[in-house]
Amino acid sequence: MTPVLQATGLVKRYGKVTALAGADLELLPGEILAVIGDNGAGKSSLIKALSGAVIPDEGSIFVDGAEVSFSSPLDARRAGIETVHQSLAVSPSLDIAANLFLGRERRRPGVLGSVFRMLDRAGMRDEARRQLDALGIMTIQNPGQAVETLSGGQRQAVAVARAAAFGSRVVIMDEPTAALGVRESRAVLDLILQVREKGLPVILISHNMPHVFEVADRIHIQRLGRRKAVVDPKSVSMSDAVAIMTGAMEPPGV
Ligand SMILES: Nc1ncnc2c1ncn2[C@@H]1O[C@H](COP(=O)(O)OP(=O)(O)O)[C@@H](O)[C@H]1O
Ligand SMILES: [Mg+2]
Repeated sequence: MTPVLQATGLVKRYGKVTALAGADLELLPGEILAVIGDNGAGKSSLIKALSGAVIPDEGSIFVDGAEVSFSSPLDARRAGIETVHQSLAVSPSLDIAANLFLGRERRRPGVLGSVFRMLDRAGMRDEARRQLDALGIMTIQNPGQAVETLSGGQRQAVAVARAAAFGSRVVIMDEPTAALGVRESRAVLDLILQVREKGLPVILISHNMPHVFEVADRIHIQRLGRRKAVVDPKSVSMSDAVAIMTGAMEPPGV
């Protein structure tokens, strides 16, 4: 099976710090791949390289088997890869619909859009409503509501909805539930499962082992800038996964 997204031998150095030391990753069609690892293991750096937010010093990235070279997040988006970064990128003063379309606003048809650059707000709101409904975000009543009036979980839901709506190949989420309460986390986990149901593979970075073990098809364990192992959550216990992550245990079969 050709991976939808693959990285081989990624190296990323920040001065004297080596964030990625020859990291590999494979995301298979239709799967939720969890990425776990201690703080500083290079999870965010890996995701940034895959989403065009940083350019690796060495290594290769492949989309559907073809090598790509992303020089910006826009390149990755054009390849169908949507990312929710760890530092949440929503604009609090804009409304939900405007956030969903941030960076790809729709203009009004004809002269109003082409000459006067008028935004198609009604069209964007309708589309936002459809996307939020499709993802079952029932708690958001009105896409015209300002994001600053939403709870943390609802904001996260907007970011996840945006990724799910525009990702045509891969959705990547870096710690999407880290700042959330129990119920809000639940909603985001359900969204992730719905993204998989749509047929889109997901990379989920998380520290939360119960979440990881609940939703992941496979678990990539990142340690000291490299992929240390990939394990099956059905055959490895949470405590063993954590032991591999911290270096207390060698992965099975190595
Ligand atoms: N922009 C940066 N400048 C300098 N060092 C960085 C930068 N980004 C990450 N690092 C360092 O790279 C290492 C890996 O970081 P990161 O990829 O954020 O790990 P993780 O997400 O697994 O916690 C850490 O030691 C971190 O301090
Ligand atoms: Mg991180």
